[in-house]
Amino acid sequence: FEVNWNAEAAEKGGYEHFMLKEIHEQPKAVRETMSARVAKDHSAIIMEELKWNKEYLDSFQKIFVVACGTAYNAALVGKYYIEKLVRIPVEVDIASEFRYRSPIIDDRTLTIVVSQSGETSDTLAALKESKRLGAKTLAITNVVGSSIAREADQVIYTWAGPEIAVASTKAYTTQLITMFMLAMYMAGIKGTVTPERTKELLTQLHQIPAQISETLEDVEPIKTFAKEYGFNEDVFFIGRSLDYAVALEGSLKLKEISYIHAEAYAAGELKHGTLALIIEGVPVIALATQKNVYEKTLSNIKEVKARDAVVIGIASANDSELEKYVDHVIKVPETDELLIPILTVVPLQLLAYYAAITRQCDVDKPRNLAKSVTVE
Ligand code: AGP
Repeated sequence: FEVNWNAEAAEKGGYEHFMLKEIHEQPKAVRETMSARVAKDHSAIIMEELKWNKEYLDSFQKIFVVACGTAYNAALVGKYYIEKLVRIPVEVDIASEFRYRSPIIDDRTLTIVVSQSGETSDTLAALKESKRLGAKTLAITNVVGSSIAREADQVIYTWAGPEIAVASTKAYTTQLITMFMLAMYMAGIKGTVTPERTKELLTQLHQIPAQISETLEDVEPIKTFAKEYGFNEDVFFIGRSLDYAVALEGSLKLKEISYIHAEAYAAGELKHGTLALIIEGVPVIALATQKNVYEKTLSNIKEVKARDAVVIGIASANDSELEKYVDHVIKVPETDELLIPILTVVPLQLLAYYAAITRQCDVDKPRNLAKSVTVE
């Protein structure tokens, strides 16, 4: 019999698109990025490539995390991690803004740049500007030997493997894991997290790859939502705290591959304007996983429901409350609320993917976009 061997199909590992393949590679990508960095007894994070000590960390008065696009959305999560676990002030900036606004930098500043490709020109320029002004620099990148990797004083690699689809998925989740590990590594040096809490967090971290797999097992409901709401021209994503950071990534995914005008909003900001756009039938994806702002998020959901929006809630598996207030609920496995962004982004990636399929878009090569923006 004739073997119908198609190079591209082989490259996609049997998936229809690189993006779907890379979404499904996330358990492996996250596991490999974590691998040697989590102590076997979950007592600490080991960062062989850094060799920092307390004196070095105590010299930092401020940390900037600078990036573009999805990497910027990941940087926002990194800010929460570092400020919550290490208590050093963090400012997150879009690279193309940072490099032109004469940021206040000196030798007590650490600039972390995040870039999947390691070639994004604005991010590289922001890195060079930071060095010129005397900051210490650290790159988090997925490409060994990339321009950003070579320019930074120090590098932490995400081991996501080559990411081909223009829409970044496994790079984002491995960036989140890497920033969480970096924050825990720094907290271990500064003593800002107890040994008990460290063990609890790292044990939960160890479960994440399997929990991503679990989240990927049942895509049917998401396919249905994508078909049902895929032809809406406006979709809103709302959330508070870490849920807002993930809402930004969910809206970027949907925007860039399905061309739907998606917008992410801090849920508390709705009444300051966006609520004017919420009319009957508008799909609103509401993330509600963060305990300290859960009730507030619920009241925002009621606000949009009162205007006849259609709400898809994203919640933790142990949440039995949200379904009373929304039209549909997508649940992710229960984990620490610091780690849940790595899980809640997965249904949003799939929603964007299947919406793009519904609209017969070119998923792997969306119009006007390049995989790496090496020109300004
Ligand atoms: C994300 O899906 C896009 N492909 C784009 O926003 C990308 O994240 C951005 O261009 C940054 O790329 P980098 O991570 O390679 O620097």
